[in-house]
Amino acid sequence: MSSELFDPDWGSATLGVRAAEPRTGNREHSASISMTSSYVFESAAQAAAVFAGQEPGYIYSRFTNPTTEAFEKRLAAMEGGQSCVATASGMAAVLTLCLALLKQGDHIVSSRGLFGSTLSLFGNILTKFGIEVSFVDQTDTTAWERAVRPNTRLLFAETPTNPLVELVDIAALADIAHRHGALLAVDNCFLTPVLQRPLTLGADFVIHSATKYIDGQGRCVGGAIVGDAQRVGKDVFGFMRTAGPCMSPFNAWVFLKGLETLAVRMKAHCENAHRLAEWLQEQAAVRRVFYPGLVTHAQHELARRQQSGFGAVVAFEVDGGREAAWRVIDATRLISITANLGDTRTTITHPATTTHGRISAEARAQSGITEGLLRLAVGLEDLQDLRADLARGLQA
Ligand SMILES: Cc1ncc(COP(=O)(O)O)c(C=O)c1O
Repeated sequence: MSSELFDPDWGSATLGVRAAEPRTGNREHSASISMTSSYVFESAAQAAAVFAGQEPGYIYSRFTNPTTEAFEKRLAAMEGGQSCVATASGMAAVLTLCLALLKQGDHIVSSRGLFGSTLSLFGNILTKFGIEVSFVDQTDTTAWERAVRPNTRLLFAETPTNPLVELVDIAALADIAHRHGALLAVDNCFLTPVLQRPLTLGADFVIHSATKYIDGQGRCVGGAIVGDAQRVGKDVFGFMRTAGPCMSPFNAWVFLKGLETLAVRMKAHCENAHRLAEWLQEQAAVRRVFYPGLVTHAQHELARRQQSGFGAVVAFEVDGGREAAWRVIDATRLISITANLGDTRTTITHPATTTHGRISAEARAQSGITEGLLRLAVGLEDLQDLRADLARGLQA
């Protein structure tokens, strides 16, 4: 028995709570976890029929598991996609999409403002297998189009970017991709479907690091790819079935529960981040604040148009380079010094020496990651306590 039926037109809060709720014969109200690596059959004939896809049924948790499937269906519903494949991490989602979709000789156009590991995967690993990559300025739509070649198969963007929260016009990129016979993938990890739905703006794939806001409490690592029934439901799923970078059912259960509170958490995260960004702008030691909700942000209007909230990542630059930035970090007592984001707990990072430490100094400079830059992923604590924690370092 299951209560998987849902209305795709429900709002994202209702979909997050109610869509694709798995229910066994025990009629449990809250989803149970199906912790098993394989499923048994009544007979050899039934096993053959299920393996051949002639009869529905679970086979092996590398590619089909009821808990993982519930998470996939719920996230697909929230993103407005037909299919979702859950992966072992956000990076596994990026790798899985590329390996399922691309072949030797294909070309990717990507923003140079991506998360460090994605940059490294594209620039150092995919190139070893004959997949070419061109990096362009995130915000310059004409540069994306100029970089397209006859063998371009994929445009890859993250919006807003990590850590400088630069946006890209998703509808404009989708138009460029489709005019040139390519596809667009958008990493939606910073905003989640609660604040931005790239598929409804024309993107072909949404990538998630579920590790972030979908979990929301910094417990599990996971990822997902959402898209249509053919490319994701068949091609990406087929790759997953064979290659196996799959999500564990336990993690899928944590993420499924995370989706239930996602809408309310995102609202609270955004509110805290916006007010903290405004406060940072007034601090003498702060040279610049990067937050799409500020009218000073170069793409504030695009953020208003394409997103239904401004997110909870705030970057700011202090005078005095690395030494001053590290001083701000080391003066905090409440805020966690960790590279993760999307947690109830506010985190602070020095991107130049952590998340973006493995890319070349030249690439870092091109991406605008200076030595004085700090990234905050604003959590759910009381605002006055966050301000007090930062004020100590800023005064130092
Ligand atoms: C925007 C973005 N995409 C992808 C990833 C990779 O996700 P994971 O750490 O789950 O592999 C991260 C991780 O920080 C990220 O910030």
